[in-house]
Amino acid sequence: MTETTAWEVAYQRFETPEQERRKFLRRLRSLGAHRWDRRTGVLEICSGRGSGLVAWRALGFRDVYGLDLSVALVMASDLHRSSVVGDARRLPFRTASRDVAIVQGGLHHLPEFDDVRAALAEMRRVLKPDGRVIIIEPWLTPFLRVVHFVTAQPLARAMSNTLDAFAAMTDEERPTYEAWLARRDQILATVAVDFEPVVVRKRWGKLVFVGRPRPR
Ligand SMILES: C[S@@+](CC[C@H](N)C(=O)[O-])C[C@H]1O[C@@H](n2cnc3c(N)ncnc32)[C@H](O)[C@@H]1O
Repeated sequence: MTETTAWEVAYQRFETPEQERRKFLRRLRSLGAHRWDRRTGVLEICSGRGSGLVAWRALGFRDVYGLDLSVALVMASDLHRSSVVGDARRLPFRTASRDVAIVQGGLHHLPEFDDVRAALAEMRRVLKPDGRVIIIEPWLTPFLRVVHFVTAQPLARAMSNTLDAFAAMTDEERPTYEAWLARRDQILATVAVDFEPVVVRKRWGKLVFVGRPRPR
């Protein structure tokens, strides 16, 4: 029996799976994924309870796998048969086997910056030479500063389950979250070692990076 952590509890009450699925669908469409070849092989790392995988499937992609370290979240996923429990720093996938490697909100959970480097190198390794990486992570934009200010107010937390769940998640992941937010230049420089940027957006508290693996 695996114990559910306080972070996993807060994550599962932040949004319903349906809200997550709609959010991920909007994101994928905003990147033009609905126009890509449906035979594209997708690997989503740090896939949590799998709502991102459900969004890929809803767009018609069939060759979709997820990977997450949390047994509880993988087992909670509707697509748990397409998900593996595993570590983003050592992906159990063959070199040059995937067309898309995507991470949404997972890199900022890794304990050290060397772990982020390792996860990026693994995404680079499993991608085909003409593949795409998609990285969507928190980013300290003015909007996120406002969110931090609001969620620091006990009254706001008392009035909104969503704000309270966000604040509870942030409390649980604070050391890695704050270290991540403080490293903007280093992150972009590190990502650029493995990937040539195609899209870089920083808005609404998120970095959206789409890139191509650099030739070795
Ligand atoms: C903020 S959640 C994001 C989940 C999902 N991508 C989403 O956006 O809803 C971060 C996820 O990273 C996972 N995680 C943390 N460290 C990991 C690692 N080393 N390897 C794989 N997954 C990891 C956690 O279990 C968690 O599910």
